[in-house]
Amino acid sequence: MSCPTKTRVTRFALVGAGGRAPMFLDPIAGRFKEHCQLVGLCDTNPARVQHHQDRLVEKFNYERVPGYAAADFDKMIRETKPDTVIVTTVDAFHHQYIARAMELGCDAVTEKPMTIDADKCQVIWNAIQKTGHKLRVTFNYRYGPGALLVKQLLSKGTIGQILHADMEYLLDTSHGADYFRRWHREKDKSGGLMVHKSTHHFDLVNWWLDAVPEEVFGWGKLGFYGRENAQQRGLKVDYEHYTEAAQQGMTKDDPFALDLTRIGADSRKLYWEAKDIDGYRRDRNVFGGPITIEDSMSALVRYKTGVVLNYSLNAYLPREGFHIAFNGTHGRLEYQEIHQSHIITGQSDQQLGEEMKWESQCVVLPMFKKPYKVPIPQAKGGHGGGDPLLQEQIFSPTAPPDEWHLSAWHGQGSASIMVGIAANKSFKTGQPVKIADLCPQLAGAVHLSDLP
Ligand SMILES: NC(=O)c1ccc[n+]([C@@H]2O[C@H](COP(=O)([O-])OP(=O)(O)OC[C@H]3O[C@@H](n4cnc5c(N)ncnc54)[C@H](O)[C@@H]3O)[C@@H](O)[C@H]2O)c1
Repeated sequence: MSCPTKTRVTRFALVGAGGRAPMFLDPIAGRFKEHCQLVGLCDTNPARVQHHQDRLVEKFNYERVPGYAAADFDKMIRETKPDTVIVTTVDAFHHQYIARAMELGCDAVTEKPMTIDADKCQVIWNAIQKTGHKLRVTFNYRYGPGALLVKQLLSKGTIGQILHADMEYLLDTSHGADYFRRWHREKDKSGGLMVHKSTHHFDLVNWWLDAVPEEVFGWGKLGFYGRENAQQRGLKVDYEHYTEAAQQGMTKDDPFALDLTRIGADSRKLYWEAKDIDGYRRDRNVFGGPITIEDSMSALVRYKTGVVLNYSLNAYLPREGFHIAFNGTHGRLEYQEIHQSHIITGQSDQQLGEEMKWESQCVVLPMFKKPYKVPIPQAKGGHGGGDPLLQEQIFSPTAPPDEWHLSAWHGQGSASIMVGIAANKSFKTGQPVKIADLCPQLAGAVHLSDLP
């Protein structure tokens, strides 16, 4: 009689123990604990490592995970022997940990954006070529039920051959403003919103169209946030950080103020109680300086298939969400999501009220026929239900087959960031930018599904 085979437990280590880390730590310690083990945690800030160590013990009764300083990353890998390293640091450091993890014998999973510029992207390609290790890029937006519905409708030719797409993404004065309080406001840390945020959107469009972007032209500016804009509008900015100003009663009339002593307990530990160790503040005045990213951006993207995308992103609006329209030879498909904005994981903005609750809509307008709505399946969980499905793909040995190619690796990760990186270059030069000049590895592919 044969014994049932026991699946091998996959060993994970994580670097970047901040706000996003629980998306990966909690399913390892909870839902997938039979198949996965967390063997190490690493960060430049020991207080954030300790917070997650304590949290996992308290929430999951998980055996205390060894913690390491970022300078001891190699030591962590040698001592704890992970199979896979999860990278959730500030964006500008993703490439370092991905490449080093591979050199030390591990696969890697990285949060978006894969990295923030063309040189760092080459570091990743070189490491993969040298070591043969794999890099998964976690595009959770693909896993939302509305996104999948759009993919299915377009794939079966509902509107014929697609010629053009138009996408407007809106970030509001809560979530959008939050990028201007933190490290995201420094271009050398985040690549700007065209990379940090739009990587999600360009990935969705690449995947929906099954096309590789070829050329990008864009304009971008900082027109709302920042000291100079505030001064031009006659606003007085008296404080650098909101929390101390709030404690002195100075922020009563400031709708952008964020008091870090009055946020949820987890976030308070991560950001307020850990701040003196590394000086990382996530409550900087959005009308202070310096801010080196844009808050208003437009781009035209030409795909190898001939489709043109017209895209915009504004980060200071009274509404959050997006709408996209695909124009095809047999009609038009319109899809929109209204998002309930939040600024710190787990915190909803109650002020917005019922009429701004998360909702989505998909309408098909066939040429010369009546338009119709297509019902969108409902899902529970973070990012429109995308997060739990993505977690299953990463951590479960029995995850459902990936019929719609939702998993993305370094090739598709590059195709999305390269649109934003090219747009950043175009903002500076005023010229269109060819993506193959930034990432030659994408030159030969026409369809996204041709890329890993
Ligand atoms: N897919 C999504 O929907 C989603 C949502 C939020 C964040 N993210 C991504 O997750 C990542 C982390 O974002 P976050 O919101 O948790 O930010 P965060 O600021 O809360 O955490 C970042 C962590 O990285 C650490 N860090 C900074 N420099 C480091 C270095 N050189 N080495 C090691 N650690 C370092 C910081 O100390 C901090 O603990 C980012 O890449 C972000 O784009 C993705």
